[in-house]
Amino acid sequence: MMNDKIALGVLFGGASTEYAVSLSSAAAVIRELDRSKYDLTLIGITRDGRWLRYFGGEDDIRDDRWAAHPGCVTAFLSPDRSRKGLFELAGTEYRFTPLDAVFPVLHGRNGEDGTLQGLLELADLPFVGCGSLSSAVCMDKAVAKTLVEAAGVRVPAAATLTAAQWAAGERGGIDRLAYPVYVKPARSGSSIGITKAHGPAELEAGIAEALRHDDKLVVETHVEGVEIGCAVLGGTELFAGELDEIELSGGFFDHDEKYSLRTSSIHLPARIGKAKTDEARETALRVYRALGCSGYARVDLFLAADGTLYFNEVNTIPGFTPASRYPNMMRAAGLTFPDLLDRLVEEALRGRPAVPARLTAL
Ligand SMILES: Nc1ncnc2c1ncn2[C@@H]1O[C@H](COP(=O)(O)OP(=O)(O)O)[C@@H](O)[C@H]1O
Ligand SMILES: [Mg+2]
Repeated sequence: MMNDKIALGVLFGGASTEYAVSLSSAAAVIRELDRSKYDLTLIGITRDGRWLRYFGGEDDIRDDRWAAHPGCVTAFLSPDRSRKGLFELAGTEYRFTPLDAVFPVLHGRNGEDGTLQGLLELADLPFVGCGSLSSAVCMDKAVAKTLVEAAGVRVPAAATLTAAQWAAGERGGIDRLAYPVYVKPARSGSSIGITKAHGPAELEAGIAEALRHDDKLVVETHVEGVEIGCAVLGGTELFAGELDEIELSGGFFDHDEKYSLRTSSIHLPARIGKAKTDEARETALRVYRALGCSGYARVDLFLAADGTLYFNEVNTIPGFTPASRYPNMMRAAGLTFPDLLDRLVEEALRGRPAVPARLTAL
């Protein structure tokens, strides 16, 4: 029956450097969401932050032709709890579409970073993924590392520097770090603005580059080893997917490599043996809880050559194409892409747990 369906708003695009990645993720999510269960309302956000309701298909989202559709109409979510849904403006008229839940398929700033999540919390609209605090904390690599370290998980040696400190000639402890180091905008994603420096000249250039993307940066010592990912789902009860492993052949997992896999490959499951797999999964779940995650997230770790696990970062809205790591790790654990989407919406409708998540199932 029509009115048994869940009215689900799907947000895509976003005023973020990861706009294009969001379009690929959203096209896949929209294609796979079961129309017998969901009435979809599609809401696109342009690179410059305009909100438009979109009535077309997912191919034109993926190919970034969606905003040119003549049917697009200015629309925004109401923060008013008595009007939970989408307002569309047509001249001086408005139209209101109620929503039961929202699925933000946005990556990076202004979408994955707690800002949008704050709006949805204000509106008391259930939504897929981590809440505002957790999203904001996970977006900021400096803040996330501080909290994770306090929870007893190792983090690579790192230093934080603000644009103001750098301009004042301060170096914030970066000279104590052993090369090679990574220079990262504190709030980055898809490796945008990240460089690897092998000496002082590259470090200076890397800092200038990172400061083009954020006014705060992290300099971090290279961990020699492999990168491991863990897909986590849930609020009170947690479910972890198979671990994956990124095999690099030189360089690092930069933007091109992430979306081309030209010289790198992803192994699923990770080839690290049962004991390390269990330890990495435990560590990922500890990180997830320490950062107050709920809904879902991908926790990324490094397994150093000496067997030590280090925290790298949490992606609260990881890539979501059918080839992406998070859905693949869940598929390897027995959850198909459409089933995964159902589980995520169920989690959203169940609401965020009042108490921190506890470990009940692996
Ligand atoms: N400390 C580190 N040791 C080894 N490799 C690293 C380190 N930090 C970053 N990298 C490399 O850089 C990539 C991007 O860094 P990451 O912090 O994950 O940023 P993003 O949020 O853009 O994914 C990682 O996937 C990894 O290949
Ligand atoms: Mg990463």
